[in-house]
Amino acid sequence: MVENLTVYYFSGTGNALSAGRWIKENAEKKGVKSDLISIDRFKKIHVPAAAGKRLIGFCYPTHGFSLPWIMLKFIFRFPARERCDVFLLNTRAGSKIFKWFAPGVSGIAQMLPALILLIKGFKIQSLFPLDMPSNWVSVHPGYNQSTVAAMVTRCRAMVDSFCEKVLNGRRHFRPNVFVMMPIDIALAPIAFMYFMYGRFFFAKVFIASTDCDACNLCEQKCPTTSIRIINKRPFWKFSCESCMRCINICPRQAIQASHSLAAVIAVISSFLPLALMLKVLNSYIPLSLHRPADFIANWGISLTLFFTVSGAVFWLIRLQWINRFFSATSLTKYWRRYIAPGIKPKDY
Ligand SMILES: Cc1cc2nc3c(=O)[nH]c(=O)nc-3n(C[C@H](O)[C@H](O)[C@H](O)COP(=O)(O)O)c2cc1C
Ligand code: SF4
Ligand code: SF4
Repeated sequence: MVENLTVYYFSGTGNALSAGRWIKENAEKKGVKSDLISIDRFKKIHVPAAAGKRLIGFCYPTHGFSLPWIMLKFIFRFPARERCDVFLLNTRAGSKIFKWFAPGVSGIAQMLPALILLIKGFKIQSLFPLDMPSNWVSVHPGYNQSTVAAMVTRCRAMVDSFCEKVLNGRRHFRPNVFVMMPIDIALAPIAFMYFMYGRFFFAKVFIASTDCDACNLCEQKCPTTSIRIINKRPFWKFSCESCMRCINICPRQAIQASHSLAAVIAVISSFLPLALMLKVLNSYIPLSLHRPADFIANWGISLTLFFTVSGAVFWLIRLQWINRFFSATSLTKYWRRYIAPGIKPKDY
């Protein structure tokens, strides 16, 4: 039986936080001493002192078939502990199609941190993907209340049964982990591309509409300090994890993931004479280095483009009519938002 439990969590919209709370509740019912620790804005890693059999858990969302960079960094820096039991719980984009609960896809969200922890000497006690309602409101509308309630109730029951096993010191791997493993491995290149390009792209398509009253809540609650208020308007930095917290907690629903801005970036990049630029670059370097040089140049050009176009739009939207255009052409303006049931901005 576990005597001490420490759960570290990162959560954009409260799904991973809810899972962490349910685990803590279960632990406390069993008399297990437990800590639930947020890794938002972490600088130092706090590992509470513990006596007796210890279990450490990491709860976090799946992002781009991988895990958020902040959680990966945290696990990288986590002090090694020989033979200490750990579990990984990644919340995923669950959905409900009529009566069928469709699972999300983990990709390398568990495999990569599990490998790091194994190398550090930890013992993997459980890998547990949890299909909470998808929070990715910049690509689809949030689900309605009854769908969310059905998914959350199902997940709660799954977490209770997970706790029954792992808190009693048993190993537990959801069969879904093994069934999906070939697909998850095949998705590793996409996870890499999301890591190199996708997350920076999504970070740069947020805008604040004229409804923003500069209350600063988004800046105060961002887990990665990626928002700066400039001239009474939020500006998104590249360090944004696209966790969807700011867009979902803004009291005036002023934040939009701008689909028109995304389209502008796509159109401009398709006009760039990239092939010609790479040819010129390659004429200066040996043949064997052409492929890595192309990749690095492509990456640098893309990031510069995301930064420049979104920066230009940031200044242009000070003009009301331009702001109205970009807001009105953002699908998020018309979509339902998402925050896990029972989670409030003060919980972050
Ligand atoms: C940028 C982004 C990327 C995502 N990528 C995936 C994914 O690859 N696979 C998946 O199953 N869910 C994906 N999701 C959905 C979230 O993992 C899921 O909704 C999670 O439960 C959110 O947890 P949180 O509220 O604790 O942040 C993504 C969400 C976002 C915002
Ligand atoms: S939370 Fe909303 S209203 Fe407040 S500063 Fe951010 S965007 Fe503006
Ligand atoms: S800026 Fe918004 S989406 Fe990005 S990390 Fe901060 S809260 Fe999350």
